[in-house]
Amino acid sequence: MSFQAQARAVADRLRTATRAAALSGAGMSVESGLPTFRSGSRALWRNRDPMTLATPEAFARDPALVWEWYRERLRAHGAATPNPGHLALAELERRIATFTLITQNVDGLHLRAGSRDVIELHGDVRTSRCASCATRVPTPLDGELPPRCACGGPLRPNVVWFGEPLPPGAYERAWEAAAGSEVFIVAGTSAVVFPAAGLVQVAREAGAFVVEINPDETPATSSCDVSMRAASGAFLPLVVELL
Ligand code: OAD
Repeated sequence: MSFQAQARAVADRLRTATRAAALSGAGMSVESGLPTFRSGSRALWRNRDPMTLATPEAFARDPALVWEWYRERLRAHGAATPNPGHLALAELERRIATFTLITQNVDGLHLRAGSRDVIELHGDVRTSRCASCATRVPTPLDGELPPRCACGGPLRPNVVWFGEPLPPGAYERAWEAAAGSEVFIVAGTSAVVFPAAGLVQVAREAGAFVVEINPDETPATSSCDVSMRAASGAFLPLVVELL
């Protein structure tokens, strides 16, 4: 089937759906100029060991190093703008009675694109929380490292690090959205990080029509009804156009 025919097949499914959901990953923000973690020459984990930057142990060992990396990313997020893929998913939320966007991304671009029913499974970098008293504040872009809470405790980025639980209630809400969806879109994720990746199977087993959009095959591909070898910023706007 051609690109256009695949997009039409997905649009046909979405037109009659009253409940749909999407799971997004770093590939979703490639057309906004942000790197992914594992694909391409700019991949964040290509020349860096996540264990030195994205674990509670790394933060305890060298909070300034961890903070420098997150501040760099926060600046990159601020300089980026939502791309046509983000805008298309926001438009799907407006057109479909219930459309929940489950994202592993911490860049906030779905919210800036206008999506409202968003579950940020891995937290966000816009806010920080106190490692001592858990107070949340907007992430300070400059100043001492690590930044300090009013109570004196060190602030940490409000993201999920390896070995940490997801934000309270986030997985439960995501599971319900996946299990209740008639159409489930999987866009821009390598589908290797759990429990997020497991949502594809949850949707599939609940009978959803599962659509993957990714230039590469992933472990989720065999669980999908349609797997588009495409950029999300190209395919999703076409789906919306054909709705
Ligand atoms: P990855 O970097 O693992 O995967 C990005 C995926 O996007 C790859 O499968 C690419 O093929 C695909 N991709 C590249 N360009 C694309 C485009 N233009 N359109 C669509 N897809 C494209 O990123 P995630 O799956 O998001 O976790 O990674 C999952 C988690 O691993 C992240 O949330 C992060 C990371 O460690 C934490 O930090 C807890």
